[in-house]
Amino acid sequence: MHMFEQDMQKSELKRVLGKWSLTAIGIGAIIGGGVFVLTGTAAHYHAGPALALSFVIAGIGCIFAALCYAEFAAMLPVEGSAYAYAYGTVGELFAWIIGWGLILEYAMGAMTVAVSWSGHFNKLLHLFGLHLPENLTNDPVTFGGAAVNLPALVIVWFVTWILVKGIKEAASANNLIVVLKVAVILFVIIMGAFYIDVANWTPFIPENTGEGEFGIDGIMRAASIVFFAYIGFEAVSTAGQEAKDPKRDMPFGIIGSLVVCTVIYMLVAAIMTLLVPYASLNVPDPVAVVVDSFGPQWSWLAKTIKVGAIIGLTSVVLVLMYAQTRIFYTMARDGLLPKIFSKVHPKFHTPYINTLLVGTITAVAAGFFDINVLGDMTSVGTLAAFAIVCLSVIYLRRAAPELPRGFSVPLYPLTPILGILSCLYLIESLPKH
Ligand code: ALA
Repeated sequence: MHMFEQDMQKSELKRVLGKWSLTAIGIGAIIGGGVFVLTGTAAHYHAGPALALSFVIAGIGCIFAALCYAEFAAMLPVEGSAYAYAYGTVGELFAWIIGWGLILEYAMGAMTVAVSWSGHFNKLLHLFGLHLPENLTNDPVTFGGAAVNLPALVIVWFVTWILVKGIKEAASANNLIVVLKVAVILFVIIMGAFYIDVANWTPFIPENTGEGEFGIDGIMRAASIVFFAYIGFEAVSTAGQEAKDPKRDMPFGIIGSLVVCTVIYMLVAAIMTLLVPYASLNVPDPVAVVVDSFGPQWSWLAKTIKVGAIIGLTSVVLVLMYAQTRIFYTMARDGLLPKIFSKVHPKFHTPYINTLLVGTITAVAAGFFDINVLGDMTSVGTLAAFAIVCLSVIYLRRAAPELPRGFSVPLYPLTPILGILSCLYLIESLPKH
């Protein structure tokens, strides 16, 4: 029996996730700060009305990687995603490096999104005339004194609690949130279609005014920024040992969630830039601003969107932290981290000690650190992981062609090669701080 098959049978985690839950895990992690926050600055400073093209480009880059993830996920349905694939193929050192790359992705991603959650939450409180003291809503670096971003800390703790309770509970909470956030976004798209002004699309690609500012260069820069919005589809592949039928359902969940989100993002970007001049999008809550343009009778919708964004961001934190704990779990089982990280709770069947530790570190970091640049670091870690997964597909096709592959990357070797090139290109295009 192959090592991975043995691994699968060893698992103490529960197989409870079907193909729709897996797709929802993907969507749960994907739709979040990227679309609710970054679209504003990406349009305002970089792409202009052509923002939808940036989403298409970033989405195409992700599709190559998604197909490679799908091949692995169907072949080696273990926890730990790219880390486990690297461990099984290119060796321990590589795996260790990619493990830490993924930590950069998931833990920092969760922190970044938790801080964004806190920003949205405070704004919502303001709408109701409530104001938390500034030293309780900012990190000490930004505030310049004794301060803590309390809402960010609390949301991470809340999510940690759900994750300790059980994967089934976490998946149910996630499913509900996914339905809500997709409904909110679809509502904006459909309603928005009645208020568009095509004049906002002239010129569609504003003339380049400097490095990364408009023109083709700007579209590419915006693509590298909004790439963040796609992060998460590969989180599905960390759920290998909790999937009911991983060989069939993992490729479905990975590719399905990415395709659904790509279509949604293109439509949102198109509608947003058609509704208001892109120059007015330089705000932290562009989707709500766009809804404001519908007129005062729609102010309740803008409020709903704000609530939807907050709930939506919660599931991103949930899935990213889930993914993080499963990577640690697998690394510990492989002996690359202390064994305590793979200890499973006798009743909840979750790696609870590891989850509590990840929760504590993420909560403290989200509460105390200035993480403005963490979004981009998250993207770098993710893109590097994607490139290594594409590379590992090529490696494993040569090293172990006989392994049964439940799903094969189409147009091999073109797809993984294009995957590697587009990831490297996007890393190169990211803004240098
Ligand atoms: N894709 C996730 C988001 O946009 C990380 O929040």
